[in-house]
Amino acid sequence: MSRVIALTGATGFIGSALVKRLGADGFVVRALYRQSRASLPIQGPNIHWVPGQLDDPGSLERLVEGSETIIHCAGAVRGSERRHFERVNTEGVARMVRAAMQTHPSPRFLLLSSLAAREPQLSYYAASKRKAEELLRADGHQLNWVALRPPAVYGPGDREITPLFKLMGKGVAPQASPRQARISMLYIDDLVAAIVTLLAQDDWHRFIFELHDGHPGGYRWDDVAHAVAGVTDRTVHTFRLPRAAIRSAAVVNMLAARVFGYAPMLSPGKVREIEHPDWTCDNATITTQIGWQPTTGLTDGIRKTFVFLGVIPDKRNRPTRGTRHADI
Ligand SMILES: NC(=O)c1ccc[n+]([C@@H]2O[C@H](COP(=O)([O-])OP(=O)(O)OC[C@H]3O[C@@H](n4cnc5c(N)ncnc54)[C@H](OP(=O)(O)O)[C@@H]3O)[C@@H](O)[C@H]2O)c1
Repeated sequence: MSRVIALTGATGFIGSALVKRLGADGFVVRALYRQSRASLPIQGPNIHWVPGQLDDPGSLERLVEGSETIIHCAGAVRGSERRHFERVNTEGVARMVRAAMQTHPSPRFLLLSSLAAREPQLSYYAASKRKAEELLRADGHQLNWVALRPPAVYGPGDREITPLFKLMGKGVAPQASPRQARISMLYIDDLVAAIVTLLAQDDWHRFIFELHDGHPGGYRWDDVAHAVAGVTDRTVHTFRLPRAAIRSAAVVNMLAARVFGYAPMLSPGKVREIEHPDWTCDNATITTQIGWQPTTGLTDGIRKTFVFLGVIPDKRNRPTRGTRHADI
């Protein structure tokens, strides 16, 4: 079996972790990159960088040519316009599926979707990911495909959750979600391991898999703060941010983004996602189907991330002092 993999999103958080692992495992990786980038995250004898982008079908055809598997990981995770999310997350998938079907024999197709796809009414991002899944199901009927719906993924290289961990590491844990809201989480290496496990399967049966770090029922924000307190051996104060303030900040940020031309992470849609009470998921299907199991729990994952960042020295393992809570 050919071990050539076409990968998109290879310059991002999840994609660059994948390139490293797949390269180290001896796969030949053909990785898409946008030429606007100043640098590439990794080089190696079996990593071939292919210039292009999702709205350039010719570059996608060159990318997938001769590959046995496509891992489509590129995606827009921040922005203010519905059109932006649809262009990258939905139409990008449509073009990748087309490129896959025009290649003979057609490669297997793995889509990095998101748990957000479960609640498409919440945000442009969530809607665009759900539409992409529906499109893959409808247009990719001749393909051997699978989609993953990761929850919040964190670890070295992440720019969304790790800044919050770092803030908690300094002793404060602002909470924007409702007190009882629960989220599942996943350490980056476990997500990569799930993909590597899938690559070893002969057939993908057009499943959409959820996956998490092995903690059923996920976490409340207090649990996350408690884990950071344990890792850093300091008291972490959690406090609720007033809802009205977050919503106003999101509106102001979105307007500023439109004026100054940047892609905002905090938007009204993101606030609706944050306020959603249940972002927990279930490993039962993926574990039954492919035998993957996570190995890194939350405390361990935060410790590894903090060691990587130099926030704590390696092998530090002191007892938890605990968290204190205050509402404002
Ligand atoms: N991180 C999470 O917690 C999480 C959770 C669930 C699902 N996901 C999904 O996982 C995927 C990767 O997320 P991430 O956290 O790694 O995001 P990221 O760090 O922002 O990386 C996004 C990647 O997509 C590429 N990209 C964006 N627009 C593109 C375009 N028009 N043409 C070509 N490439 C384009 C980026 O290229 P540049 O480097 O050139 O910008 C980058 O390589 C996304 O589909 C996301 O929806 C992420």
